[in-house]
Amino acid sequence: MRFDVLTIFPAFFEGFLAYGIVRRACQRRQVGIGIHNLRDWTYDRHQVVDDRPYGGEDGMVLKPEPIFRAVEALTHRQPNPSVVLLTPQGRPFDQTVAQHLSRQSQVVLICGRYEGVDERVAEHLATEEISIGDYVLSGGEPAAMVVMDAVIRLLPEVLGNPTSAQKESFQAGRLDYPVYTRPAVYRGHAVPAELLTGNHAEIELWRRRAALRKTLRYRPDLLTDQTRLDETDRRLLTELLRANAAGQPMTCHSSS
Ligand code: ADE
Repeated sequence: MRFDVLTIFPAFFEGFLAYGIVRRACQRRQVGIGIHNLRDWTYDRHQVVDDRPYGGEDGMVLKPEPIFRAVEALTHRQPNPSVVLLTPQGRPFDQTVAQHLSRQSQVVLICGRYEGVDERVAEHLATEEISIGDYVLSGGEPAAMVVMDAVIRLLPEVLGNPTSAQKESFQAGRLDYPVYTRPAVYRGHAVPAELLTGNHAEIELWRRRAALRKTLRYRPDLLTDQTRLDETDRRLLTELLRANAAGQPMTCHSSS
């Protein structure tokens, strides 16, 4: 698949492209990423990309013309490109949206700036508006990196081990389990004994229980749809809720 990013700060993406999984996926041609300077689609001497808002207000708004021109030029060979405007007013980004995007052949990401983007871009050019969370960033660039990172790890072959992405948080309807490495005791804090037993069944059960405890604590909303859990998880969850109701502590270290 291919991403094309439209931004007035192309240098923002240098570090993102230079490291880790993203760099490797690009080198192996598992993904193509083009970073494009919006100013390249302006025709005036000062390469102006913004203007004052109609109706008066503070701040500047990104003009529609360079954005329309850029998207049309970048997608002219693609019959059904996804054109995503990154904005706090968009649909919340989550793993389901990431999976949907990972099946597209081309995704254009438009990074907003200033006080916003002329609404005609959202109405007549973008196929969707996406927000990465209920907070306001100073621009869409960090959001574009979040979206690309989450999508690229889902592409076939990118993680090497095809089950890794599937096993991760959210894909299984709950958060991921906690992990530990050496030393077995650090500053008096021991790694849970179950993980040192070498007994795979016991380790698996501990992991599921610990994952459910974390989910109950930080994201109980994920557990309202229990059909996403398998039978073992549902049984463990029932036990945890009972223990909770009985006033027992819900730490990740108890083996109960
Ligand atoms: N631009 C500014 N804030 C944003 C957010 N929360 N998500 C996506 N794009 C944004």
